[in-house]
Amino acid sequence: MAPFFRCAAPAFVGARLDADSSRQLTDVKPLAIRALHARQILDSRGRPTVEVDALLDDGSCGRASVPSGASTGAAEAHELRDGDPARYAGLGVLRAVGNVNGEIARALCGCDAADQRDVDERLRALDGTPQLRRLGANATLAASLAVCRAVAVARGQWLYERIAELAGVTPLLPVPLTNILSGGLHAGRGMDVQDFLAVPMRAVSIDDAIHRMARVRSAADDVLRDRGMTTLLADEGGVAPACATASAALRLMVEAIERAGLQPGDDVSIAIDVAATSLVQPDGRYALAREQRVLDSDAMIELVCAWAREAPVVSIEDGLGEDDWVAWRTLTQRLGRTLQLVGDDLFATHPQRLARGTRDRIGNAILVKANQNGTLTGTLDVIAQAKAAGYATIVSARSGETEDAFIADLAVGTAAGQIKIGSLRTSSTVAKYNQLLRIDERSRPPYAGFAALAPLER
Ligand code: PGA
Ligand code: ZN
Repeated sequence: MAPFFRCAAPAFVGARLDADSSRQLTDVKPLAIRALHARQILDSRGRPTVEVDALLDDGSCGRASVPSGASTGAAEAHELRDGDPARYAGLGVLRAVGNVNGEIARALCGCDAADQRDVDERLRALDGTPQLRRLGANATLAASLAVCRAVAVARGQWLYERIAELAGVTPLLPVPLTNILSGGLHAGRGMDVQDFLAVPMRAVSIDDAIHRMARVRSAADDVLRDRGMTTLLADEGGVAPACATASAALRLMVEAIERAGLQPGDDVSIAIDVAATSLVQPDGRYALAREQRVLDSDAMIELVCAWAREAPVVSIEDGLGEDDWVAWRTLTQRLGRTLQLVGDDLFATHPQRLARGTRDRIGNAILVKANQNGTLTGTLDVIAQAKAAGYATIVSARSGETEDAFIADLAVGTAAGQIKIGSLRTSSTVAKYNQLLRIDERSRPPYAGFAALAPLER
């Protein structure tokens, strides 16, 4: 076994071990994978997840860990859990870890790490199932990301530069969509709608954008405290005011923006993630427990349209469930010319589901979660596919994250235009914002600005 304990560099920066100092960066010899080593670590909810160290022949080492969702779509790649009730309530990932240390390591050792597509195709072929059910997408993705990071280390690149090279685009700093209020499965179903987010409208840089988001996040605490409401944190670092209606939450958002000294709709607007799949009943209707209503698809569309009229909303994610394609089309016809309509569970970072959506003009933006897909190359392909169809792309965190800031580099390196990270609280979330600030300081890639939101022709 390779001496991974020597990989003592700051987490996720990567390290070069036993490097031959005479080696030129232009050296065309393949960077062979020498070893992969996985371990079980914990995510921000204290649940197990997979971390992988990839060691290359030149001594370069890259480490990556994968996040985990709470409101997961049925079409997502499979997250392999142990199911042993005696360990972490069945949520252990030792089988996925074993798959990396066994089969995956055997299949990838000796391969050229610089050929990321080949690495990722081998991972898919080795698994042999459409949703990566056998090895687990948590195993394949962690291996895929670790290899990418190791190559960046070997070449002396920043991760976003390596990703930009793979994606064939020029780096671009994304607009952050920042979680402010949470409900749904991120906050004990205290509200029917899962997330209310702030969107900076007129920021001139990522630094300016993050500053505005920090002001709104802190103002939300002040507004809630003044009303005697709780300011305890939800899973993504937002607050969980448990409003009985979405309209009440939208009013709180407007108040928080104003309290921050900013103009709602002008300086900062609102994005909603309804996460409507988690509201769907067996009969296909939507149960809004807090509002004490059960709505069919048409009524749900009316409700979403009403929210968009009530407040300066610029983006609505999963306003309908993952299988409600017909209603999604109607919603897009109603709102898609003026608002960003994002498919998360609907598209599941899956090429075929996205192809169906772009063909039928359903939604106009895709939420991109690498662990819904299962490999880095698969994720890059979906982003390219979305862009080619004129859809906006939002690289997204999951509600269970680790300190790995990979998605910050992914958003910049793919020029995705938008990133949805969570709130400006807790280190697993702030790690991503901080990486955006570092990238900005290093090379000042252009900042996408509001034009990155769909509809893109606006
Ligand atoms: P999840 O939530 O990570 O719990 O799926 C994020 C989202 O729905 O966008
Ligand atoms: Zn979502």
